[in-house]
Amino acid sequence: MLSGKHILLIISGGIAAYKSLDLIRRLRERGCRVTPVLTKGGAAFVTPLSVSALAGAKVHEHLLDLTAEAEMGHIELSRAADLIVVAPATADLMAKMAGGQADDLASTLLLATDKRVLIAPAMNVRMWTHTATQRNIARLKDDGILFVGPNEGDMACGEYGPGRMAEPLEIVAAIEKVLADGPLKGRHVLVTSGPTHEPIDPVRYIANRSSGAQGAAIAAALVQLGADVTFVTGPATVAAPAGVRAVRVETAQEMHDAVMAALPAEAAVMAAAVADWRVASRSDQKIKKDGKGLPNLSFAENPDILAEVSKLKTGRPALVVGFAAETENVAANAAAKRKRKGCDWIVANDVSPETGIMGGAENAVTLISEGGAEDWPRMGKGDVARKLAARIAETLLKG
Ligand code: C5P
Repeated sequence: MLSGKHILLIISGGIAAYKSLDLIRRLRERGCRVTPVLTKGGAAFVTPLSVSALAGAKVHEHLLDLTAEAEMGHIELSRAADLIVVAPATADLMAKMAGGQADDLASTLLLATDKRVLIAPAMNVRMWTHTATQRNIARLKDDGILFVGPNEGDMACGEYGPGRMAEPLEIVAAIEKVLADGPLKGRHVLVTSGPTHEPIDPVRYIANRSSGAQGAAIAAALVQLGADVTFVTGPATVAAPAGVRAVRVETAQEMHDAVMAALPAEAAVMAAAVADWRVASRSDQKIKKDGKGLPNLSFAENPDILAEVSKLKTGRPALVVGFAAETENVAANAAAKRKRKGCDWIVANDVSPETGIMGGAENAVTLISEGGAEDWPRMGKGDVARKLAARIAETLLKG
């Protein structure tokens, strides 16, 4: 199953690095090609010679290694593999990943990659349970980073608790699971995300507070399940996730056109906060403060992309999912919206300012379908995304 697969293995500095030597052997036994990367800390625990001898390949250690740049740049190195595995992943490297830092070869590869990343954390129990590490873990999970372990048990430092790196064979099993074809393999899913910007004149526009976080997380979760994802995004603050076909738009009309051009799809998840109106009196020149009073803006209605896709006579996706951001009577308004728009499901949430949901890291949603309303507990947007993606996969596979 792993035969012919290429793993980029990053070994960072922890006593568990000795287990990574065995991991290399186990991977090679299964026909995997392993390209090893050793951090400065990693090299304090295992030698480059033993790593390269076991991997049967050169060890990459330095960012500014001119020979390596001539042979293969760090960008290429980060993308040539099927999967990046970090074992052990130290608290420090996880913090760098969560913060997007790139000050050595390992962190730069992790920032530059477009491949999935599986990490096997290893650290002292207090470091693992520290709020800073727990915050970084939540962040990394929301960013789509996959985890194996840590396990609970006796630690090299004499303490007991969670923080022991997963055993090599557990890591191999996790790699097999990640590289197995996902249930949505070969299925095209369309996701809209982010706000739209509706120009008033060349410098001003009307926008909304959507960050695009929930839509990006859903697209990432669908990619993890193997889907072929077209991600139509307005000007969001959150970047498009790795592995999607991203189409960047600005206005509702452009989003509409991009969505129609991307069809057919088996499922469409419309998570974008599309502006309901555009400025009909949009000026080609910057509107001046000319002392003749306030400008009068007139509005025109934007196409309702969700309703249009839901009501397509031919080529309608088998499953159309809309979102309802409400500030009152959430479930009742969302159920009415499901009927009005003609979509199959509505993911409803309360975006009243006191919930902190719009632009925040968490979401509390109610899934409304023909069968009724289902309240999901408040959880990270990544968890909502994974739960929704799993539900979509289940529904599409049922046919
Ligand atoms: O009507 P409302 O904006 O509350 O509906 C929200 C749902 O409809 C979201 O799924 C959103 O992506 C979608 N929508 C759309 N096109 C619009 C307005 C909303 O696709 N013009």
